[in-house]
Amino acid sequence: MSSDWRVRVLFDEATIARRNDEIAKEIAAWQPQDLLVVAILKGSFMFAADLIRAMHRAGMAPQVEFMHLSSYRAATVSSGQVAILRDVDSGVADRDVLLVDDILESGRTIAFAKDLLAARGARVRSCCLLEKPGKRAVNIKADYVGFECPDYFVVGYGMDVAHSYRQLPFIGVVEKDETAPD
Ligand code: IMP
Ligand code: MG
Repeated sequence: MSSDWRVRVLFDEATIARRNDEIAKEIAAWQPQDLLVVAILKGSFMFAADLIRAMHRAGMAPQVEFMHLSSYRAATVSSGQVAILRDVDSGVADRDVLLVDDILESGRTIAFAKDLLAARGARVRSCCLLEKPGKRAVNIKADYVGFECPDYFVVGYGMDVAHSYRQLPFIGVVEKDETAPD
């Protein structure tokens, strides 16, 4: 990685942690039965890990599963197609399911997952850490949203650009560091 790029922080660790506890309380108020959390890989892995611990603190005991969907390849624009790279192992019929994703942008990923699990008989709600307003290609709203995200390509806290930056504990924007020597 070149050293003349830096990540400008948009949402820091403490802000994300506080919001996770608030979202967990909102989810607890739903009073779901036999809840299954389905985290959509890869981008949501860090958020989901923190959110389910916040849900535990809020008195919940969800089961947890993973579904690997892909709409972005290496580029920063959506291909418009959603592919299932890995499906859930558990049956979802007649269960309350909470889909967890990193960003709601075009809405195609969440709409695809919601339709798939609903067709198997689940009662599905969705939770996205970030929502980019004005970018929806399909008419869908997340039931629980962490933050409204400015219209930048963001990285960190599980989110990548070309497989990098997932490890950052905060969310930010990659920018050229104009102070770096050439
Ligand atoms: P949607 O299907 O267009 O709503 O896109 C959602 C998916 O696109 C997310 O799960 C992310 O993986 C990816 N995505 C969209 N915007 C960003 C971004 O700013 N940074 C990183 N990934 C993004
Ligand atoms: Mg994703």
